[in-house]
Amino acid sequence: MGISSYIKEERVLAELPDELVHSEAFARELDDIELTYNAALKEITAKLEILSNNFKMMNSYVPVHHIQGRLKTFDSLMEKAGRYGIEDPLHNIPKVREQVYDIAGIRVVCNYREDIYTIADLLRAQEDVRTIKVKDYCKNPKPSGYRSLHVVVEIPVFLVDGKKMVPVEIQFRTIAMDTWATLEHDLKYKNRGALSADVKDQLQECAQTLADVDIQMERIRHQVF
Ligand code: GTP
Ligand code: MG
Repeated sequence: MGISSYIKEERVLAELPDELVHSEAFARELDDIELTYNAALKEITAKLEILSNNFKMMNSYVPVHHIQGRLKTFDSLMEKAGRYGIEDPLHNIPKVREQVYDIAGIRVVCNYREDIYTIADLLRAQEDVRTIKVKDYCKNPKPSGYRSLHVVVEIPVFLVDGKKMVPVEIQFRTIAMDTWATLEHDLKYKNRGALSADVKDQLQECAQTLADVDIQMERIRHQVF
């Protein structure tokens, strides 16, 4: 057996200390992350799809436009652990798992603003779903203009060795909020994170315009159904 398939990139593997590349225990630790958090992604995605389908059946209306899930890459996990001040994260995987809540991440893109809360509340009300953290950047946008409802939940995943509680970070947003976040992220990335104050102002203005459109679209919706 070799190193875990959780490490996808040669470049990242090349930077690992030799002692870990050959460590069976380390490989199993990473395999466990890949298995457990992928399982949690599947569980939450299934719950969200079931809710959305049930909504369609009851109201002839689909509140969820689309769902995207992703497993945080090993590289980005170690970078974040470092930012969180975890000492020697490579030898402290259990601590990294304890402190980083977005190893499993899901984006739920909804049609209308109110759908965000409808779906989030229905999910959070389920008896096997425990809410750990809520950050409402729709009601309190970030200075950048970023809007979304962030909810970290914990759900049980049933493995051969029994039940494990696994955290998942869910970002609920409208199509308009998603458009803005995607393009703004792209612009930042293209400029290696640095945007001028003027560009930031313009982006903040776009976020406000899109938020106004979301409210207007919701008003129109209520005139139709
Ligand atoms: P970090 O993930 O380390 O930033 O800490 P956190 O989880 O406490 O931060 P936060 O609640 O801000 O959530 C971070 C995630 O939200 C990021 O990974 C992005 O997906 C998204 N996000 C937050 N702020 C912005 C922003 O200004 N622009 C964009 N495009 N996305 C953002
Ligand atoms: Mg985060």
